Amino acid sequence: MRVVVLTGAGVSAESGVPTFRDADGLWEGHRVEDVATPEAYEYQPSVVHKFYDARRAALADVEPNPAHVALARLERLLGDDLTLVTQNIDDLHERAGSGHVVHMHGELLSALCRGCRRRMPWSDVLHDYPPCPHCGVAELRPDVVWFGEIPYEMDRILEALTGADLFVSIGTSGMVYPAAGFVHQARLHGARTLELNLAPSEGTTLFHESRQGPAGTLVPAWVDEVAATLSGG
Ligand code: OAD
Repeated sequence: MRVVVLTGAGVSAESGVPTFRDADGLWEGHRVEDVATPEAYEYQPSVVHKFYDARRAALADVEPNPAHVALARLERLLGDDLTLVTQNIDDLHERAGSGHVVHMHGELLSALCRGCRRRMPWSDVLHDYPPCPHCGVAELRPDVVWFGEIPYEMDRILEALTGADLFVSIGTSGMVYPAAGFVHQARLHGARTLELNLAPSEGTTLFHESRQGPAGTLVPAWVDEVAATLSGG
């Protein structure tokens, strides 16, 4: 059984990482367009740097929750037959034990050099414009995909969706493309589709099945079902 799982901010919500589309429409007090666009970075780089520096530092205060742990178990059950794609820029999947995570929107713990275009692990601040360890140019930016930029590893993701037997979307509002279109892609190629989300997403009617509740409860229960199926139970 080949499975593609897509996770969004809802999978990290119970760890204490705020989702993007809270009731006030702000992301940690900022409008998304003020901190998550290339234009924002051109006009106010220090605001953008300080915002992501704070998000990076905040990783130290959060821990994986049972949803992340269950998805790491799913990787052990399915091996290469699982493609785990996340829109999240935190490292909670990895800390829970997932070894192969496709971070389509980039990672907080990575920097991207605008000089030599290299991506590199990064755990420090960027607001003081450190030089790139590779080319020496002081043009390091957060390695996150902003609105208007192309997400990472789209070829690999589309290939996995094409061959999937099951596509599962967890904790995402289905409002941001291309991720919001994955359910459609998967269905086109014959996959069964399942949504696990606190509330019905924008695209909930596109799924064969939609379950509502917190990811920390729904995901372990679903992985138990997969384990039972694999063992013939
Ligand atoms: P959103 O904040 O748009 O949506 C989070 C979803 O998680 C909502 O549908 C909630 O109902 C659901 N949710 C909240 N708590 C949950 C819980 N405990 N268990 C299960 N579900 C829960 O976040 P994303 O869909 O991830 O992109 O946002 C997609 C992209 O928009 C982000 O990656 C980011 C953002 O702008 C970029 O920065 C490029």
